[in-house]
Amino acid sequence: MWSWGLSLVLLCGVLQWSSVSGGLVLTVHVHSGATVLINRTQTAVSKCEVCIGKSCQSSVTLQNSADVEFNCTEPENLFTVEIVRYIVCTESCDRNITPEQYPSLQNFSRTFTWIINGSDENSFSLDFTKTGLRQIRATESCPDKHVYTVSNSTTSIGRFCRNGTIKGMEMNFESSVSLQVPGQEQLEPTTFGVSVGNGITVLAMIKVSLPAEESSQEFFSPNYPGNFPDFNSIRWSFNVPPKYYASVRILDFTEPRCLRDDTHLKYERDGKMVVKKLSDAQLSEHQGSFNLTFRSCLRRNLNSVLSLHFKISAIKRGAEARCTVDLTREEGLLELHIRKSKPTSACILKLSSLIQDTVTVTSEKALTLAFIDCREEDLLLNINQTIACQQQKGCVSSKFSLRVPVLEKCLPGFLQQVSWHLNTPQDGAVELMSPTGSLQQSLPGQTCNSSILLTVTEHEQQGMAVGQFCPQGPIRSVQIQSNITVTASHADGRDLKQITYPLLEGSILESLKERYIINVMPKKDSSVLLATPAWPAGMKPQSTVSWIVSFPSQFEANVEFTNISQVSCANRHTSIEVQKQSSRGETYSWRMDEKPKSVVMEESFYLNMSNCKSVKGSFSVVSQITLLKRKNKSLTIALSVVSVLLLLVVIAFAVVCVINRRKKKQQNSHPEVSVYNPNGHAFLPVPKTTEDDEHIYHCIDDTMVYGHLLKHGEEVNDFEPAVDSYQVFTGPTEVQPLTEHRENTDKIQEVGVYRPFTGPQNAPEVPERSPRQGRNPAHAEQQGADKKISGDDKIVEDQVRTTPGLKIAPLADPEEDDSETPL
Ligand SMILES: *[C@@H]1O[C@H](CO)[C@@H](O)[C@H](O)[C@H]1NC(C)=O
Ligand SMILES: *[C@@H]1O[C@H](CO)[C@@H](O)[C@H](O)[C@H]1NC(C)=O
Ligand SMILES: *[C@@H]1O[C@H](CO)[C@@H](O)[C@H](O)[C@H]1NC(C)=O
Ligand SMILES: *[C@@H]1O[C@H](CO)[C@@H](O)[C@H](O)[C@H]1NC(C)=O
Ligand SMILES: *[C@@H]1O[C@H](CO)[C@@H](O)[C@H](O)[C@H]1NC(C)=O
Ligand SMILES: *[C@@H]1O[C@H](CO)[C@@H](O)[C@H](O)[C@H]1NC(C)=O
Ligand SMILES: *[C@@H]1O[C@H](CO)[C@@H](O)[C@H](O)[C@H]1NC(C)=O
Ligand SMILES: *[C@@H]1O[C@H](CO)[C@@H](O)[C@H](O)[C@H]1NC(C)=O
Ligand SMILES: *[C@@H]1O[C@H](CO)[C@@H](O)[C@H](O)[C@H]1NC(C)=O
Ligand SMILES: *[C@@H]1O[C@H](CO)[C@@H](O)[C@H](O)[C@H]1NC(C)=O
Ligand SMILES: *[C@@H]1O[C@H](CO)[C@@H](O)[C@H](O)[C@H]1NC(C)=O
Ligand SMILES: *[C@@H]1O[C@H](CO)[C@@H](O)[C@H](O)[C@H]1NC(C)=O
Repeated sequence: MWSWGLSLVLLCGVLQWSSVSGGLVLTVHVHSGATVLINRTQTAVSKCEVCIGKSCQSSVTLQNSADVEFNCTEPENLFTVEIVRYIVCTESCDRNITPEQYPSLQNFSRTFTWIINGSDENSFSLDFTKTGLRQIRATESCPDKHVYTVSNSTTSIGRFCRNGTIKGMEMNFESSVSLQVPGQEQLEPTTFGVSVGNGITVLAMIKVSLPAEESSQEFFSPNYPGNFPDFNSIRWSFNVPPKYYASVRILDFTEPRCLRDDTHLKYERDGKMVVKKLSDAQLSEHQGSFNLTFRSCLRRNLNSVLSLHFKISAIKRGAEARCTVDLTREEGLLELHIRKSKPTSACILKLSSLIQDTVTVTSEKALTLAFIDCREEDLLLNINQTIACQQQKGCVSSKFSLRVPVLEKCLPGFLQQVSWHLNTPQDGAVELMSPTGSLQQSLPGQTCNSSILLTVTEHEQQGMAVGQFCPQGPIRSVQIQSNITVTASHADGRDLKQITYPLLEGSILESLKERYIINVMPKKDSSVLLATPAWPAGMKPQSTVSWIVSFPSQFEANVEFTNISQVSCANRHTSIEVQKQSSRGETYSWRMDEKPKSVVMEESFYLNMSNCKSVKGSFSVVSQITLLKRKNKSLTIALSVVSVLLLLVVIAFAVVCVINRRKKKQQNSHPEVSVYNPNGHAFLPVPKTTEDDEHIYHCIDDTMVYGHLLKHGEEVNDFEPAVDSYQVFTGPTEVQPLTEHRENTDKIQEVGVYRPFTGPQNAPEVPERSPRQGRNPAHAEQQGADKKISGDDKIVEDQVRTTPGLKIAPLADPEEDDSETPL
């Protein structure tokens, strides 16, 4: 057999086969220096053997060309072929290595293995620039079915496909490179280079050259998903093209507990290094080439495995812009929050060369930030400034302006909002005014034209907005007895940076009578909507608000309540009051269950509201104030003359009315009273409701109802009796009264005036009203007492005097009060 070996060499590469006893004969030409190993796979079921001459075995090793004979017809399914070459690489060995074709073995699965030998001191270097490798999992295959494996005798560095970014490797000697091509697959040879390396201290160094395009690739630790041997290191050297930014993300890892040392990833660049744990966030958006070394420890338990699977991605970016933000000259404590508007945007924000999604710069220290590819809209800025006045003296009554702090021009981003946190001493208050002189409350039906919105929130109220305001309107000042935050923003979310003028002027007040005081100067022929603090939510429990509404004397104001939401009170009640500012001013007041009516105020007035401690619902009111040219005085005089004339008629009617009603009422077993105030005091002009039956009891005043309890006051004659008011005696009785209170009530006592109508056995009672509005003296007294106990309500109730011997009716159920017969 060996005698025809020479002739076979001449037939190199030519397939010769003949069938011997049903088997297959192949002529294998072995290239010089190579060893061909034909080996039956362990999993083969068949006992087919490979024979050289008469020697048949499960495997055969050829170092020279030979005819091999198989005693089966399809040996390619049972045998694999390995073609091994040793590359000796001692001092210098620049070699290009190309796998050789073995056409006769093409139907077999072939593995081309190169074992690189050299001296112990040196390492060797593999050059894959022509091939380019891409690491794959142990179970993965390649599109071209050519799988490269790099390993030493015990450890697999990795499996690779061609056409990747791994351009080279450096390893210690005795390592091997192999290329596996499956059966029937045509070998497509590509060349790689071998040379003596520089010497390495790690198991292997893998040189990766990221392409000059957006890219991402994955890497695995040696033996993945098996264990990366203890006390070892592997290094990836990443070459990142200029203008590209690379990020490393760990996709998967398992980690043993270490007996000695620790597992970590070390990033190095030009001598600088960062060490990260596997659980840490890894390097991100790094510009420039770097080395990444993965280190294993000495495991405590050999069954636990160290493995790592990571991804590196790179993207091209613009130049890095730097900006030093210095707020140290700003007043108070100032915080500038910078955040990315979208986490996915290309914009990169860096502080001390670390990528950040948010950065806070305070007025304590200047910071230098770096921005890459950040457009204005990629970053949102918010400023919080704290203006504290905690000590009672010094800062009280000092003025301050709320203006948008000036930011460095180099700082990109939209200034979304600026918040001023205003802290006052105990019992102190904040006063806010617009530098332009006026403000408007933004409400439905009265939205702000200006795009700047100033939202005032109370700290105590969990940030509940007191209201939203904007410049230019009827509000002169807003005073709040609370620590507040004022937040300025653009209604359409635009940038606030351009705003250089002060948005508000403020000062700290030592104390405040009400929780909220709002100064309002309506303009003529226009309506102003005013909403209770926190509207549309309810007003803070047990708080009071006062609008001081001022206007010139030639005007009068129509006050309407356009939207009221009421509560059930745990104690006391809510109230709405309208009171002339002048000391002699009258008061209109409505309690919880009463529906407030429109009133016309002829001079500047207070609109006060107070909330109770509610058990259900919330107290919120929208009031509308319309300023109108005052009615002709002479007409009023004429009307009053007429009224005086009508007075007598009224008295007559009243008597008749009461008698009739008493009869009617007695049938319903309701004690009732009819009252009449001969001073004309009872007649409150109530505009716009003259056709409305409901107005008829507007003329019934508490003063009249409880008139026998009250003293007469001089100013009662101030009232101008209205002509139409005597309808009171003809209209239906199920109406809601407009309660009128008197200031200085001590003087308005007219004891016994109405006794003739009520009879001595009956306490005065309001003529039939809806049960919920019912109020008898006992009731009134209870409420009055209630007020006095709390002491902090501003409701004018003190004029309701306690009647000796009155039965105290429980306040809780007004309906019961009504049915109860007072003494
Ligand atoms: C043949 O392959 C088996 C595994 O398939 C291996 O154990 C054996 O060592 C190989 N024989 C030679 C001569 O390489
Ligand atoms: C091949 O030959 C060997 C030894 O002669 C024998 O054991 C085996 O069964 C044969 N296999 C086939 C498939 O004929
Ligand atoms: C490979 O196998 C095919 C059939 O599967 C056969 O036609 C062909 O001749 C074989 N080639 C060699 C070189 O054995
Ligand atoms: C290469 O090294 C291996 C293992 O040390 C050894 O068995 C083999 O003979 C060496 N080959 C050459 C050509 O030096
Ligand atoms: C193969 O690599 C492992 C892991 O680094 C190492 O422990 C072992 O000594 C290496 N073997 C050889 C022959 O270099
Ligand atoms: C290599 O990859 C590129 C893009 O990733 C692809 O266009 C090309 O066809 C690939 N070449 C081979 C030989 O697979
Ligand atoms: C990476 O490490 C190699 C040596 O291991 C060194 O030559 C090279 O400069 C390092 N690269 C960087 C970017 O530090
Ligand atoms: C800044 O003010 C806003 C608005 O009041 C608030 O939501 C935010 O929590 C504040 N930020 C800090 C850090 O205080
Ligand atoms: C403001 O807050 C401070 C401290 O938090 C507190 O002492 C003070 O009473 C608060 N002022 C008001 C008006 O509530
Ligand atoms: C707001 O704009 C409307 C119409 O655009 C105008 O009628 C109204 O007077 C403006 N209000 C203010 C406060 O400028
Ligand atoms: C009253 O205000 C509430 C919001 O609190 C609103 O939902 C409702 O539509 C308003 N009603 C009227 C009549 O305006
Ligand atoms: C209404 O509020 C004003 C201003 O706070 C206050 O002077 C006046 O006494 C209050 N009126 C009533 C009836 O509480």
